[in-house]
Amino acid sequence: MTLLHHLTGAPPGMTTRALMLRLSTIGTVLAGAAGSLAYAGGWLSPGALTPALVIDRFEQVNGPHLGFRRNHAKGLCVAGSFASNGTGARLSKASVFSAGRVTRVAGRVALAGGQPYAADAGTTVRSLALRFPLPDGEEWRTGMNNIPVFPVRTPEAFYEQLLAAKPDPATGKPDPERMKAFFAAHPESVKATGLIKARTITSGFADSTFWSLNAFRFTAADGHVTPVRWAFVPELQATQETAAQASQTDKNYLFDDFVAQLQREPLRWHLIVTLGQTSDATADATLPWPADRERVDVGTLTLTDAAPEEAGNCRDINFDPLVLPEGIAPSGDPLLSARSAAYFRSSTRRAGEEKSASAVPATTTRGPGL
Ligand code: HEM
Repeated sequence: MTLLHHLTGAPPGMTTRALMLRLSTIGTVLAGAAGSLAYAGGWLSPGALTPALVIDRFEQVNGPHLGFRRNHAKGLCVAGSFASNGTGARLSKASVFSAGRVTRVAGRVALAGGQPYAADAGTTVRSLALRFPLPDGEEWRTGMNNIPVFPVRTPEAFYEQLLAAKPDPATGKPDPERMKAFFAAHPESVKATGLIKARTITSGFADSTFWSLNAFRFTAADGHVTPVRWAFVPELQATQETAAQASQTDKNYLFDDFVAQLQREPLRWHLIVTLGQTSDATADATLPWPADRERVDVGTLTLTDAAPEEAGNCRDINFDPLVLPEGIAPSGDPLLSARSAAYFRSSTRRAGEEKSASAVPATTTRGPGL
C-alpha cells in the first residue's frame, strides 16, 4: 500500500488514476466546503462564530473527553452493504443509485451528546452515519438522526442552544431561565422541539428511522435538479420503547440490544428519498415538508457487523455531510457548511489525542467484517 493509498483511505488495489480522481474529489469537496462557508452567516467575519469556537463550546459544556468525537461521542462501528434497486437513477446520476449496484458500507450508530460514557436513554437522539465508497474514488458520506426535524435553523442558534441546555451542576438539568430566553429568541425552535418531543420513541436502533434533516439536491443524467431529503426506514416494525426498557440498569442497553439483534439476523433499512417542491424549505431544517410529498424507495441497506471503535475503523472516519458524489449536491441550508467545518475541527482535534476504550465493547461478525 502506498502513502497515497494510506492518505486517501483507498483500498490497496486501487489504480493511480482512480487515486488521483479521489484526491481531486476530496480537493473539490474541501474547496466546495470552504466556498460554501462564505455563505454561512458571517462565519468568515472577524469576531463572528468559527468552527473552533463551536468545538470549544462542546468541550466547555461536556468537559474534555480526549480522543472522542465532540458530539455523538458514544458509538459503535457497523458494516454491511447497500443494494440499489435502480429507481433512484431517474433522479440522480450518482453511481450508488445505478440499477443492481451493491456498495459495501462502513458506518456508525451513536447517541447524540458529548459524553462518551453516558448511560443509554430512550429520549437521547440516536444517529446512523454511513460511508459509501464508490467507483473512481468517489464517496458519499451521510449522518442522520432519529428525529423528524432539527431543533435549530442556523449555526449561531446551535451555538447558543449548546450553552443554554448545559446542565446546571446543582440540579443536573438545564437552567429553565436560560432555556426560556433561548426559546423566546428562537420561535422556530419552539415549534421544532414540539415535533421532536411528539415523536414515538422506538425500542432501539434497529427499529429507528434515521432522517437526513438537511435538504440536498439530486441532479439526473439529463441535468434535471430535484430538492430532496432522505431517510433510512427500518424493515422491522417500529415498536414503542417499553417501561421495562426505560427503567433497566444496563448502561448500554440500546447498544447491547442492537448487537443481540444483529447476532440473530442482518438488519435492513430502505433508503426513502422525499422529493421536494419549489415551495418546500431547503434552507431550514426546523421545518418539516408536507406529508404528501412523493417518496421513492431507491434501495436497501443491510447491516451485518458491529465492532467497538478502534484504530482504522469508523472511529477515524469524519462523516462530513459534504463528501458527496457527482449527482448529489448540498442545498443552501447553512447548517451543512457549518457541520462540515465543525466535524473537520472535531476530527482533527481527536485524531491528535490519546485514545481511551469505547464504552460500547460488544462485537458481532456475520458478514465479511469491518
Ligand atoms: C451547526 C449544526 C451542527 C453542529 C455544529 C454539529 C456538530 C457535530 C460534531 C462536532 C460532531 C462530531 C464529528 C466528529 O468528530 O466526527 C457531530 C456528529 C454528528 N452529527 Fe452533528 N452537528 C450539527 C448538526 C447536525 C445535523 C443537522 C445533523 C442531521 C442529521 C447532525 C448529525 C450528526 C451525526 C449523525 C453525527 C455522528 C456522526 C458519527 O457517528 O461520526 N448534526 N455533529
